[in-house]
Amino acid sequence: MPDYSSPPSSSVIGVIGEGVLLPCHVVANNVPEVFSVQWVFHEQSQEITVSRYDGKTEKEKQDERYQGRTEFFHSDFRAGNMSLHLKNIRSSDKGSYTCVVSFNDTYHAMLIDLQVAAKGGVPSIFLRSHEKKGIDVSCHAAGWFPKPEVIWLDSQGRVRNELSTTKMTVMPAGLYSVVTSMNLNPSSDMEVSCRIVNNLLNTTSESRVLISDIFFPYISKWLIIFLVILCLSMVLISTVFYKLRSSHKKTEGVVKVKMEIEEDFWEARSNAVPITVNPECRVLELQVPGVPDVESNASESAGLNTPSTVPVLVGKEGFASGKHYWEVEVGQEQDWVLGVVREKGRQEEEGTHPREDYWALHRSQGEIFSSTGDHRIEKQMSYSVIGVLLDLDRGRVNFYEAEQIRTMVRMPLRLGMEPTETFYPFICKKEGTYTPLIRSVSIPVPLETL
Ligand SMILES: *[C@@H]1O[C@H](CO)[C@@H](O)[C@H](O)[C@H]1NC(C)=O
Repeated sequence: MPDYSSPPSSSVIGVIGEGVLLPCHVVANNVPEVFSVQWVFHEQSQEITVSRYDGKTEKEKQDERYQGRTEFFHSDFRAGNMSLHLKNIRSSDKGSYTCVVSFNDTYHAMLIDLQVAAKGGVPSIFLRSHEKKGIDVSCHAAGWFPKPEVIWLDSQGRVRNELSTTKMTVMPAGLYSVVTSMNLNPSSDMEVSCRIVNNLLNTTSESRVLISDIFFPYISKWLIIFLVILCLSMVLISTVFYKLRSSHKKTEGVVKVKMEIEEDFWEARSNAVPITVNPECRVLELQVPGVPDVESNASESAGLNTPSTVPVLVGKEGFASGKHYWEVEVGQEQDWVLGVVREKGRQEEEGTHPREDYWALHRSQGEIFSSTGDHRIEKQMSYSVIGVLLDLDRGRVNFYEAEQIRTMVRMPLRLGMEPTETFYPFICKKEGTYTPLIRSVSIPVPLETL
């Protein structure tokens, strides 16, 4: 009578996007030609055929879900090797599988538990300094599975005792994205490391930064420095099994809403690019409510949807793909326009642009409008720095209030078919008076070694 060499139930770990061998071996002198093997996935009460091979007809059958992702080892069948190679693992493949083999009127089943895991990206560390309240340090990492553990460490590699808050979100592919934050005061150890741990794969990824004293700006009242640290070359993969527990779980939930906004903002900000504008002025025809008519110098607002022309300064660099972020200092000015303008090729220069071709946020006599629809944005707060994310991957422009870390408005781009489309940042040009400044989002140099 045939038997199985492996224990009745065993567990294998597969990495998302890669392949795994689901083992099944029948101990028999010779498996006859007429046999069948079927791999079944158990989902709640359902049984899904992962792959089935019938020795009589030599046909293979699969469920749609596993189409093109499985492979038997046909030449090893006779030796009792009924293992299945499952390729391109998804998070939904996690669960229990049975290998059912039948021949000579006997049938045998073996259960395999498939665990899936993913080692996500290197964490990025972001700093935001507060007047008199130390520095907010946040760490962001995406693409992990299952839920990773997050640990803040000091220069000695010890777990930090600052309280941290962590939020995990599920990304479209079922993977986890994590943001964790804590507040550092000037007297603490300024070497900060953020470690993400996948306990299933026993791997970690870590980023470390040394925060210099200059990031504590007590001197100037108005100066708030934001900076982004992109930790480029500091991946630490270790096979040490970390049993440390961080204190974040206790406070999860408290900062939910704020973290949601922040995560989006930090992500946007990690795409910071330097922008310089052409000194020559261009004229843009805006068809948005309430733009003051600069040409006639009239101080009253134009009527709703009345086209107005405004002189603008357009960025030297244009973008045709990817994500790009920049920040504009608008100070306490009551009237300004900024955004993104599209150009198709370079032929129709010098003129005005049709309505379709810009995405703008503008302030008119203190009120904020967006160019899509008659979108009015509440005006109770001050807007001194506006962050703009041009996201050509997802086809949209997002505007943020960069000091309060708030999303102001998101606009779809309606990307055209032409491959020559290029998007340019623009800001308004004020004759003689204040012209908004595109400021650089500084990227400090991360520590070279750990
Ligand atoms: C079955 O065959 C595959 C491919 O040759 C091999 O990797 C595997 O170790 C064999 N045995 C079992 C028990 O899966």
